[in-house]
Order: sequence, then C-alpha cells, then structure tokens
Amino acid sequence: MEKLVIEGGKRLQGRVAASGSKNAALPILAACLLAEGTSVIRNVPRLSDVEILLAILRELGCRVERRADGAVEIEVKDESNSTASYELVTKMRASVCVLGPLIGRRRTARVSMPGGCVIGVRPIDLHEKGLSALGARMSLDHGYLVAEVPPGGLQGTDVFLGGAFGSSVTGTTNVLAAAVYANGTTVIESAACEPEVVDLADMLVRMGAKIEGIGSPRLTIEGVKTLKGVEHTIIPDRIEAGTFLAGAAITRGDVTVTGCRPDHLRAATHTLREMGMHLEIGKDTIRAKHPETPLKPVDLTTLVYPGFPTDLQAQFMAALCVADGISVVTEKIYPDRFMHVPELLRMGAELRKTGSTVVVHGVPHLVGAPVRASDLRASAALILAGCAAWGDTEVHEIHHVDRGYERIEEKLNGLGAGIQRVK
Ligand code: EPZ
Repeated sequence: MEKLVIEGGKRLQGRVAASGSKNAALPILAACLLAEGTSVIRNVPRLSDVEILLAILRELGCRVERRADGAVEIEVKDESNSTASYELVTKMRASVCVLGPLIGRRRTARVSMPGGCVIGVRPIDLHEKGLSALGARMSLDHGYLVAEVPPGGLQGTDVFLGGAFGSSVTGTTNVLAAAVYANGTTVIESAACEPEVVDLADMLVRMGAKIEGIGSPRLTIEGVKTLKGVEHTIIPDRIEAGTFLAGAAITRGDVTVTGCRPDHLRAATHTLREMGMHLEIGKDTIRAKHPETPLKPVDLTTLVYPGFPTDLQAQFMAALCVADGISVVTEKIYPDRFMHVPELLRMGAELRKTGSTVVVHGVPHLVGAPVRASDLRASAALILAGCAAWGDTEVHEIHHVDRGYERIEEKLNGLGAGIQRVK
C-alpha cells in the first residue's frame, strides 16, 4: 500500500496546468465503440480509471494504443465479444459507460453491474429506463446487466431522465450513445448538462450524429446509419482545476491554473469570491489569491450543473474548516458523500453532520494527523488539508486519488507543497 507524507504549513503558490477531464474521457473513449475506422482522442489524462476503461475496450475487440504524443488511438477491429467482464468493471464503476455504445452499435451487451462505492449505492435505474424506452430488453443475469435489441433495432422515442437528483450524467451519456443509431427521433428530457456530456455530444456530431440542444436539458437526436472515427481533444478537467483553486484558499496561497475552461467553473469561482479570495480570470486561466485576511464562511449546496459540483464539495469543505465563522455545506447529489468528515475531525476541524448537511465551525488552523483516503475527492481534500495543517500528515490508501488525479503530488510540489509518496 502506498501513502503520501505531507509536510504542513505550506502555501501553494505558482502556476499549474489542468489535465484532460477524467469524466469526459470515460464516456468519450467508450463512444469510440460506435465509430467505423480509427478515432484519435487527445488530452486523455493518464489515470488508473482511464487505463481500466482502455482494457475493457480491448476486451471488446478494439485496437487501443497510447501514442508517444499522449493521444489514444482506438479502432474497432472485432465486434464479436460484447461482454465487459466482472474483473474489470468492478475495478471502476464508470465502466458502465460502455453500455450505451454497445447497445447502440452492436445491439447486444453484457456488462457486469457496477459495484457501489463509498459515496453511495450508485443505482443505474435511469440508465435502464432510458435504454429500455429505446427498445433494449434489459435483464440481470448473475450480476451481469444483459441487453438485447430486437432485430428492427432501437426505436427513437421520448425519454425522461429526471430522477430524484435532477438528472444523471452517465445515464445521459449512455442513452445518448445508444440513440444516435436508433430509428427515428429521440428526445431526452431532463438530460444532464454537465460539460462532460457536451464534450461527448460535440464529438458524436463530428462523427456524423445528428444532435440538437447540446448543453440544454433537452437533447433531440435523429438516428443515423453510421458514424466515422474522428480526432477529438478532451476538455480540461474542471474538478482538478477547482481542487487546485481550493488548495490556494486553504493554504493562504496564490495559484494560477492554466489550460482550463473558466466557463465550466463559474459556481466554484463565485464561491471562492464569496469566501474572500481574489480571482483573476483569463481566457483559459484562473488565478486565486488569498486575501491575507481570514476566509469568510459561506453556505454551499451541491447541485447538478451549472450548480456547485458535488465533486468539489469535500475540497471546499476543507477550506471552510479554516474560515472565520460558520459555514453550512449541503450535499444534494450524494447525501452520504461525507467520508472526509471523520478524517477532517482528526485534523482538528469542528464539523457537525446532520443528515446530508454539515455545519462547519471555522478554526484558526488544522493539525496534521495520519488519515485514510476513501473516495477520490475526499482524498484530494485531505491532501490539501495536509498541506495547510500544522505538522505532518500521512494520507493512507492513496490509490483512490490516483484514479482521478494525474501525478497529484508532482503538481502540488510544483506549487511549493512538501509531499512524498512512500511505499
Ligand atoms: C458522474 O457520475 C461522475 N462520474 C461523478 O464523478 C459525479 O460525482 C457525478 O456524475 C455527479 O456529477 C463520471 O462521470 C464517470 P449521476 P454518475 O448518474 O454519472 C443518482 C468523480 O469523483 N442516480 O449523475 O454515476 C445517483 O445515485 C465521480 O469523478 C440514480 O438515482 O452520477 C446520484 O445520487 C464521483 N439513478 C445522482 O443520481 C441512476 O440511474 C447523480 O448521479 C443514476 C444516478
């Protein structure tokens, strides 16, 4: 097992480049199953989650190569195996992203049911509802989700994907990836509007799909007969960028994230301003500078895009632990996404959790401690807290963070952190 040993009392200062978005890369790489010929996907982050998905694509008959320039080449060579194995899918639940493309293109799929994870049960009822509405016959067979499409193919229809939480990101990407080959017109009502869904839709259109309403909660898709491989560059990772900006807040630093999309981070930059951070926003850069006076408390509620992203909740809670006052953090997307709370308490934070709300009483500083990573974003929050805390912190089970952050200690050390990865 590896751990990170983090020196405390550091200010994060300087410039750091955003990597490609993990949550755009996963559905986009999966969607290459839909295309004839070769697709070249650029700006694909080097993450364990991405490697698992590429292994699944190989299992599904694709030639997958990571080129020297970092781009990933995907060519569908053999469409005879449409089973995504338990061994691989349980390593990364987002492998469910291959379901829509398989159903759309091959009219059959066998994908192991994704495991849950620490942030929640992670149901896929909306995925099934949408794909069934298009005509896929879904069943559960020994832990595998099995889908069969009648000989006539998928039929376009109206699909409502709104759930108790607003919409589903990968539910939308799965239904969208199937609908591009359906006969006739499909309208997806209450589609997710996250930038990662937009990035996928943009690529599908360039492959030859007909999609209207991209970026809105209503997507209209006209089925086509074939899609061709294209070159596509993944959008920058807004969550990684937001994580570094939260790091500037908690460590009283001054961080500029380069190669990012400020328009994807409006909720986060608005919140940083509310906390008193000085923001300078350029075309593809965001600078967050601590005001040298204590951070102000804020009330923060996670919502679907363009609301405040659940994937930044833990990182911003860590920063609010050292704000001057009382903040209220409410999690509306994953009500249990508070694995970071007991660990932050070990570092001297004053937090009171009631249901899906945490009241944060700001303290002057945190104190380093051995802590345990759990979900991807909670791990990032603990690393940031460790940089700011007095004394050293050890973050154990660090494989969680490698799933979603490319070389995080290298990037943070480039900003002045003192982090060592220890076997
Ligand atoms: C995507 O997960 C992201 N993952 C998550 O990021 C992110 O937290 C989440 O969207 C919300 O923004 C990827 O894109 C690979 P959802 P996804 O379906 O698509 C409920 C990270 O840290 N729901 O939008 O699985 C669900 O339980 C990860 O990078 C249903 O009830 O999320 C949740 O409460 C973590 N039924 C809410 O909807 C369904 O069929 C939003 O889930 C599907 C979801």
